[in-house]
Amino acid sequence: FSEFLTDNYNRKHDYLRISITERCNLRCTYCMPEDGIELTPNEKLLTTEEILRIVRIFISQGVTKVRLTGGEPTVRKDVVELVKRLNELEGLKEICMTSNGIALHRKLPELFASGLTSLNLSLDTLIEGKFLLITRRNGLNAVMKSLNKALELNLPKIKLNVVIMKNINEDEILNFVELTKNAKVDVRFIEYMPFEGNKWRNSKMVKYEDMLNNIKVVHPDIYRLDHNHGDTSKNFQIPNYKGKIGFITSMTENFCSTCTRLRITNDGNLKVCLFGNNEVSLRDLLRQGKNDDEILQHIGKAVKSKKAKHAGIGELENLPNRPMILIDDFYNKF
Ligand code: GTP
Ligand code: 5AD
Ligand code: SF4
Repeated sequence: FSEFLTDNYNRKHDYLRISITERCNLRCTYCMPEDGIELTPNEKLLTTEEILRIVRIFISQGVTKVRLTGGEPTVRKDVVELVKRLNELEGLKEICMTSNGIALHRKLPELFASGLTSLNLSLDTLIEGKFLLITRRNGLNAVMKSLNKALELNLPKIKLNVVIMKNINEDEILNFVELTKNAKVDVRFIEYMPFEGNKWRNSKMVKYEDMLNNIKVVHPDIYRLDHNHGDTSKNFQIPNYKGKIGFITSMTENFCSTCTRLRITNDGNLKVCLFGNNEVSLRDLLRQGKNDDEILQHIGKAVKSKKAKHAGIGELENLPNRPMILIDDFYNKF
């Protein structure tokens, strides 16, 4: 595997997450600061050609999986075109997307036809009123429409991301579990994480252990599955249920030692860890006319600076970072 994408802890990074917009059609409280974010001027954002050039460089070093994120990736006008062009590149085995599902259902058939292989849908509640409380917008029906469309198209991998927050949606865990009974969808419960501006409190977080115990009361036969390469989640199965149940335990049991991911922010910075603020601008290097080898030197240096693990509860919430929307998820300031 490429020296450039191997870090000092022998982690081999074959998964690239690319934020293709910082805009979003929701305003989730855990993702977006209350006062919103400053939108980056257009000229500082990566163009489609620049994204493709970056992906080509990473593929040449062994990256086989890309995930398009945002903001909300479907808000980017040329998202279908981008998937199509990524699909034309030799070497990618998976083209994935993480979406909130609001505007996705219309684009999904085209995205699928263009080469999208997997979809992670963010959905934290199955109750309309709570959806508004969490996302500050209406839209549960639209998300369900996207989920049903994805199932109808028989997308190879469909996962639901559910961020669990104390006294907000903790009581819906078992309802989400039931979704996996008849539909081939995996549900992953996510521990709430601190990001700049999201007013994270330890007391708002529900621990993995508590979520699992809660499920075990009703499903004592739930069993653990083997860990797959690159997985963020600990996975479980209830016998005879079609989908799996997962837990993303970023806070109580970090999975940093098996991390395989690197990310590109929408303004073209390489970010080697979700919780780190040392970033290198690949956009600037491209625009300075650097060749692939020169760019790789910078990538290699950044990868070697990756820490063994994140700082953990107690320190994480005080570390300088971007709000989640500017790393991986969305927002649209008026
Ligand atoms: P898969 O390809 O399905 O494994 O997707 P994923 O889990 O990498 O991506 P997704 O965009 O669906 O993110 C789901 C959740 O994983 C996020 O809410 C985060 O909680 C967590 N996550 C994603 N990337 C990282 C990371 O680099 N570090 C940590 N600690 N958590 C992450
Ligand atoms: N904690 C945990 N997960 C979060 N996400 C956004 N903000 C947070 C947070 N503070 C999730 C979204 C989406 C994924 C990309 O990140 O729900 O599914
Ligand atoms: Fe919610 Fe942030 Fe995802 Fe938008 S980008 S849907 S605000 S989590």
